[in-house]
Amino acid sequence: MKNLIYDLKINKNLKDDELIELLETDIYDDKLHMAADEIRRMNYKDEVYIRGLIEFTNYCKNDCYYCGIRKSNIKSERYRLSKKDILKCCENGYKLGYRTFVLQGGEDPYYTDDLICEIVSEINKSYSDCAITLSIGEKSFESYKRYFDSGARRFLLRHETADDEHYSKLHPDSMSLDNRKRCLFDLKKIGYQVGSGFMVGSPYQTTQNLVADLRFLQELKPDMIGIGPYINHKDTPFSGKENGTLELTLKLVSILRLMFPYALIPSTTALGTISPLGRELGLKSGANVVMPNLSPVETRKKYDLYENKICTGEEAAECRGCLERRVEIAGYRIVTNIGDVKKHA
Ligand code: SAM
Ligand code: FES
Repeated sequence: MKNLIYDLKINKNLKDDELIELLETDIYDDKLHMAADEIRRMNYKDEVYIRGLIEFTNYCKNDCYYCGIRKSNIKSERYRLSKKDILKCCENGYKLGYRTFVLQGGEDPYYTDDLICEIVSEINKSYSDCAITLSIGEKSFESYKRYFDSGARRFLLRHETADDEHYSKLHPDSMSLDNRKRCLFDLKKIGYQVGSGFMVGSPYQTTQNLVADLRFLQELKPDMIGIGPYINHKDTPFSGKENGTLELTLKLVSILRLMFPYALIPSTTALGTISPLGRELGLKSGANVVMPNLSPVETRKKYDLYENKICTGEEAAECRGCLERRVEIAGYRIVTNIGDVKKHA
């Protein structure tokens, strides 16, 4: 029998039917995770990069069917952080050793391009040894370019699913996969380190869809790849749909590590939410980044993309300490440098 894991490790690729076999059977899992860990250690040793996540607005003009902060969720208690609030989060984070700040939010027109540029350049001026990452959704080439010129160097935008039909089951007609992809290629053209990714186990997802996701990532060649299980939110049209599983998410983390040895792959909060040791297992399966929360405690619960999100009650310093211990127990080590991607193979 063909050794799928060996082939994936050596060739960084498999045929579609082989990927499907790997995804649909669990007999390979242990060996797959071990191979992924070996490759992550070859590229990144035992180092885990930390990113300070600032969830600065939960207003959103979009209406993604899976998302708890979609505009039609009238139960969502909305909030926005001021420039001063955001800078305070950075100040706090800097003292705790963070050298990357990730500004994430819904697509909120209140934050005009001028305001985003002002915020980015102030962070840049005050913390010139830090990287600024934006995760604020779909914008025009010109807007992305302005943020870049103000000092943003990284951008996270998950493609969510690379299959048109599946995309249309997760989003209203006003959104399109074509535009999402256009954004990602624009970001690359401008010179950002780009992160993409998808939810695992989102409603109507098939194994073929996952293979399409991997193929799209091969085409995009992102620097960062973020995946996490889909988790239900009761105040969305998908209320009551099943969550993605820990096992399939871990399997995909390992496959991604073997296909993209250089990539920055976070062990996500969603993984930690579906299982108490999810983030540790994510690291052991090939992930090499964690993104603790730097948002003010008062607003954390309100950024509820899905139910039972973890780490919503702790201060930034507690989150930092907790993660440090968890990472160590898992057999890795948090490093506080800027944490750029290693050169693409
Ligand atoms: N607005 C920005 C964007 O569209 O990229 C950033 C914020 S958006 C809430 C960040 C990510 O949360 C999405 O890319 C999506 O994959 C994830 N997300 C949203 N709802 C989710 C859910 N119910 N379960 C798991 N992940 C979810
Ligand atoms: Fe916009 Fe979720 S619908 S962030």
